[in-house]
Amino acid sequence: MPATLDARSSQAAEWIQSRWPATPKFGIVLGTGAGQLADRITPEAILPYSEIPNFPRSTAIGHKGQLVCGKLCGQPVVAMQGRFHLYEGYNVDRSTLAIHAMHLLGVRQLMISNAAGGINPKFRRGEIMLINSHIDLMNRRSRKIVGPNSVDRPLVRSDNVYDRDLIQQALQCARRNDFQIHQGVYVGMLGPNFETRAEYRFLRRIGGDTVGMSTVPEVYVAARYGIRVLAMSIVTNVARPDVLEATSGEEVIDAAKLAAPHLRALVENAISANS
Ligand code: HPA
Repeated sequence: MPATLDARSSQAAEWIQSRWPATPKFGIVLGTGAGQLADRITPEAILPYSEIPNFPRSTAIGHKGQLVCGKLCGQPVVAMQGRFHLYEGYNVDRSTLAIHAMHLLGVRQLMISNAAGGINPKFRRGEIMLINSHIDLMNRRSRKIVGPNSVDRPLVRSDNVYDRDLIQQALQCARRNDFQIHQGVYVGMLGPNFETRAEYRFLRRIGGDTVGMSTVPEVYVAARYGIRVLAMSIVTNVARPDVLEATSGEEVIDAAKLAAPHLRALVENAISANS
């Protein structure tokens, strides 16, 4: 494996281009249970992560582990059907390698979905929250913190990456299609466990609306490249300490399916409105 991140991501991007010689402006990351959105893509190449040089394996439940390349709304798109998490044991570079590769392929706009616990008391299972900022509690494992100041540590406000225009377009899309949507703050936790009641209470107090175990590292990488991000939490379990439901991986996937038609509308709208 090449030594540097840039060499590793170039090798991956070149391999993808050798199978699919398109220039996708749009990238999609499909989180737990959201993989079926990939069925809307007219496929031109389906590339298992196990074949792409330097890509990690997807080990989390509800994650298929392949790159779906093709057309959505007439535009070339590259979609990750399944993502990588820090809790799977990958470091930041490996877990975000696909985002670096997407940048090299030409991606300028990224639509990210995640499964998350809803800690805002107004949120219901199956609803979607547009992320407009985050709180990074991934124990600093979500970003590189050592070494000289460099492009790996851009001095940008990370929440600028949650693009205001994309959020406005998504709100309008929900209004037009008559479904409930929220906006708020995502808390990134390392996991892999779900939180305790006391932790949910704490996360709500510090300003969180949803909590999950992904997205934050991907957003740091997108920020580094100036990629615009529309990030969406699917509320898969109500995570309020006093009405806490038991949660299993399967329940998370079932709830993500409830949101599937709305997620599809939002992603397709984000492509059509910015083509
Ligand atoms: N906590 C963390 N991650 C999650 C949750 C949760 O409650 N639900 C889905 N992913």
